[in-house]
Amino acid sequence: MKPLTVDENTTILAIETSCDETAAAVVVGGTRVSSSVVSSQVDLHARFGGVVPEIAGRAHEQLLNPVVAEALVEAGVDGSQIDAVAATVGPGLIGALLVGVSAAKAFALSWDVPFVAVNHLEGHMYAAFLDEPALELPVVVLLVSGGHTMLISMEGHGQYRMLGGTIDDAAGEAFDKVARTLGLGYPGGPEIDRLSLEGNPTAVAFPRGLRDRPYDFSFSGLKTAVVNHVRNSGGEIPVEDVAASFQEAVVDVLASKTQQAARDTGAKAICLAGGVAANSGLRERILDVCHEDGIQAYLPTHLMCTDNAAMIGTAGWYRLKSDGPSPWDSGANPSLSLPLLQ
Ligand code: KG4
Ligand code: ZN
Repeated sequence: MKPLTVDENTTILAIETSCDETAAAVVVGGTRVSSSVVSSQVDLHARFGGVVPEIAGRAHEQLLNPVVAEALVEAGVDGSQIDAVAATVGPGLIGALLVGVSAAKAFALSWDVPFVAVNHLEGHMYAAFLDEPALELPVVVLLVSGGHTMLISMEGHGQYRMLGGTIDDAAGEAFDKVARTLGLGYPGGPEIDRLSLEGNPTAVAFPRGLRDRPYDFSFSGLKTAVVNHVRNSGGEIPVEDVAASFQEAVVDVLASKTQQAARDTGAKAICLAGGVAANSGLRERILDVCHEDGIQAYLPTHLMCTDNAAMIGTAGWYRLKSDGPSPWDSGANPSLSLPLLQ
């Protein structure tokens, strides 16, 4: 294998197949996105109201090669110009992860370049830094996706301290479940976000969970409160008011606990990550909080909030720089956790 210096010209092909998005991207020097192609399988899963793992794995197999080809063409490069191949190795659905990991290793072997194993959660965190290469640390990261809700203090590249997280449902999961209760489409987050713009956020006083635990979250009580409200109110309150009141309850808890965490850790910025970071109410509230406390807000662009491969390419570049190539036997791990400081 060619010796590799990781610098601002290092060109990485990145692959993401952890859930229901088949994605490939070419990222140069850790922050310059030459191409980012995402093929969503959302239509295949929508009628089941959630992701069906077997369908996801099969669809990745069919979509991955064309998606990689498109990413290379869009970036104007061929295999000989790729310096390393990165792929998400976890967490995610095992059958889905395996498709991306196997393909990435095959590309890397055939081009005689390193393979880089990337943690999907670290990818989400780095999405916010694509537009902020001159990152000031420490930052507090609120990572809110379909499967995770975490408050993390990032003290250096790859150096994370867990402050808290959800004790039951993830924030995105709560959005999706409440959307189903309200008869909205899948995925529910964007639907509730859109509907909330037309609703009154103070129409229903939904509960804010876990007030006594500063950095932890609970959304299952809130979800049950919405279900009970819909059952008992006989449709008296317009659905957009219920959606807006639910979103307000989620945003209120997420933003206030994140603000407290940033104050307590002396953070220079708050960073949002994961699919729920696309939520317009949450983005607005985090901007307000940062303005109030005189700190920076790092918000990924909407396209970079949900699953994509550009974020895997940028996290992969930092990993390659700090740890070097990943071993060829580093396999997919559906329950991979974020590497934490002790
Ligand atoms: O990060 P992501 O694409 O996949 C996971 O790794 O889980 O997150 C998907 C989640 C879904 O639950 C979806 O409903 C939620 O992110 N989501 C949103 C919005 N856009 C996506 N939630 C609230 N508001 C949005 N605008
Ligand atoms: Zn994700």
